[in-house]
Amino acid sequence: MKDSKFLRALNLQVNSTPPVWLMRQAGRYLPEYQKIRKNYSNFLDMCKQPRTCAELALQPIDRFSLDASILFSDILTIPDAFNLGLAFHEGEGPKFSNPISSPQDIKKLIPFDVNALDYVFKAVEETKKLLPKDLPLIGFCGSPWTLAAYSIEGGSSKNFNKTKRFMQEHPKELKEFLEILSNACYEYLRQQVLSGVNALQIFDSWADLLSSNDLEKFSLQYTLKLTSLLKADPITSNVPIILFEKSPKKNIIEIVYEDIACISLYWQEDISIVNEVLRNKYAIQGNLDPKVLLGSDELIWDETQKICNIMNEYPGFIFNLGHGITPDINPDKVKVMINALRA
Ligand code: CP3
Repeated sequence: MKDSKFLRALNLQVNSTPPVWLMRQAGRYLPEYQKIRKNYSNFLDMCKQPRTCAELALQPIDRFSLDASILFSDILTIPDAFNLGLAFHEGEGPKFSNPISSPQDIKKLIPFDVNALDYVFKAVEETKKLLPKDLPLIGFCGSPWTLAAYSIEGGSSKNFNKTKRFMQEHPKELKEFLEILSNACYEYLRQQVLSGVNALQIFDSWADLLSSNDLEKFSLQYTLKLTSLLKADPITSNVPIILFEKSPKKNIIEIVYEDIACISLYWQEDISIVNEVLRNKYAIQGNLDPKVLLGSDELIWDETQKICNIMNEYPGFIFNLGHGITPDINPDKVKVMINALRA
């Protein structure tokens, strides 16, 4: 396992060809996913079936021989465990029937019980049983900020106005909520590690809502708190942590910090600039624009090789997309990308 390309890269070692996995690699773009998905009207019910989660996690591995697998679940399992009434209905995205609408809602939150997420830990165990012995499994959570944003907004939205208003009107209570979420994420990731995951990724998918100052105050400070808890705990202290920041209003170089093994670059970041500064300190994951996979085979080939050429000798490079793969992408195009980077 330690010799897997993916874990070698996280330990800042050079591989002859870069390890590759894709954010959201198990999902709607795969016909084999759709086949299982159609048996469930609420996506969350599917996430609560450990054996099904294991099969879904294996699908992209079987199809593309990727170098890492990711737990099949969702970042919103934590808000669900706080009884915010989460459901994912047909073509709607996530919706909370009981969102955080006032400071009182934070005061009366039930205490976090990690056992409520037992189905996730069982999914980790089931996935480990199906995976090849030397293939690493990535566990994950949303950043405290991203989870707070969904919990307050009550689902996805274009500009997250409710969340922004809450931030202006009740910064103190928002921080209390972020504190609660940081502790919940810690317990959650710790239990994923105990169940068998080999690396962790934190998704700060709503980092782009925050100005540079607010990113520090409302997001990075709590991610730091989460990773400090993980590093202080002998169960999790040696598990590499990957941080994904979506379109942050702050330079990546000012975002990374010691507890992070790897930064996952959004597709808009210039990989040729950061690689000079981060060399020998952090692994880099990224960052092909997922939209490139909608283009011609030649375009995919060229753009993939461009990134690989820049990162050729970088100690600790992991090829990935610069954000999740979208349902409109043809899996054959992923194959073209993988052939290009392994050529
Ligand atoms: O291979 C994998 O990565 C599968 C595991 C996984 C899912 N979601 C399954 C999923 C992971 C790692 C996630 C992370 C996740 N979930 C993020 C962070 C990544 C990112 O894209 O920034 C976020 C923001 C969410 C929240 C979420 N989950 C939304 C907004 C939605 C609906 C729309 C969408 O983007 O797909 C989901 C549903 C979801 N999570 C699906 C899957 C496969 C699709 C559900 C369906 O089939 O209807």
